[in-house]
Amino acid sequence: MPATTILSGIRPTGNLHVGNYLGALQNFVQLQDRHECFFFIADLHALNEQFDAKEKYAQVLDTAATFIAAGLDPSRSTIFVQSRLPAHAQLAVTLANFIPVGYLFRMTQYKEKAGKQAQGNANAGLLYYPVLMAADILLYQPTFVPVGDDQDQHVELSRDIAGFFNKRFGPTFGLPKTLHTETPRVMSLLDPTKKMSKTLGGNHCLNLDDPPAVITKKLSRAVTDTGDGTGAGAKNLLLLLEHFADHDTAQRFQRAAKEKTIRYADLKQTLARAISDYLKPIQEKKTALLANPDHLEELLAAGAVRADSVAQKTLSAVFQKIGLRPGD
Ligand code: TYM
Repeated sequence: MPATTILSGIRPTGNLHVGNYLGALQNFVQLQDRHECFFFIADLHALNEQFDAKEKYAQVLDTAATFIAAGLDPSRSTIFVQSRLPAHAQLAVTLANFIPVGYLFRMTQYKEKAGKQAQGNANAGLLYYPVLMAADILLYQPTFVPVGDDQDQHVELSRDIAGFFNKRFGPTFGLPKTLHTETPRVMSLLDPTKKMSKTLGGNHCLNLDDPPAVITKKLSRAVTDTGDGTGAGAKNLLLLLEHFADHDTAQRFQRAAKEKTIRYADLKQTLARAISDYLKPIQEKKTALLANPDHLEELLAAGAVRADSVAQKTLSAVFQKIGLRPGD
């Protein structure tokens, strides 16, 4: 029997980048060997920023294909699309009643994303986002939630909500913990003081779909330092090399950085080749999967059935506790 339950989600916002991969997806693949895993495409979470309705469905399928191409195995992991399970929205609406709104206004991501807009103009989905995320998590009662460190505060809020609920209605939810990789925050190529994120723009990110020429070009523009490997940009590139190149190559550049003999043009070229080689089989597999959308849909439908059987149990228990269903 698998030891623990793991759950995580990724928003379908178009191309995933190497930050999503090293902070989350690669870890999902490793975890599925040892645990009961639920991984989902968080499509309801992708509506609070600008989006094109004509593209959204394709992005959902694209994310599903990326999950599987990167190594998630639908026979070992339960892979599903959030909006297809009404239990997520039902639990979110329920849990919203047990968390003071002040907790939501304090969320860093809310403040960052809503901050530029006039008071009251941010959409309510942005404020409510962590409640939906708490519902996503608590429905499956996971021990661990593997995420990058930008999601820590949200996972913490799901613990707060679980705690408030348990205190009032008796033990119902376990308290989930975050699980980080060694790279919980991959930085932007152009502004290494910020995390790599799609909202910063295309040249800040290396996307999992980027062809070799694009990877080479983006890396050639990446910020480094004056030659000692201590600048945030250089450190970020050395970190990427550690994860995408072989051990000896990564060590060679680490040594050169310490000895202040590092040549960043070489580093960038070597890194571009390593990342391109690493991504090639993932890209090929993804193209093959997307050529057969019916098959992908079948996999997602099977995942939804499996996930829903777990989600419904939690939801029934919650509804019983709060008196919306008859007790035992
Ligand atoms: P999302 O879609 O923004 O990102 C998906 C995952 O990638 C991680 N990540 C990074 N890791 C390292 N370095 C980076 N530069 C980087 N950028 C992103 C994120 O931390 C995340 O793990 N709210 C979530 C989706 C979600 C969720 C959930 C996750 C919805 N419900 C329930 C876990 C459990 C999000 O927006 O991730």
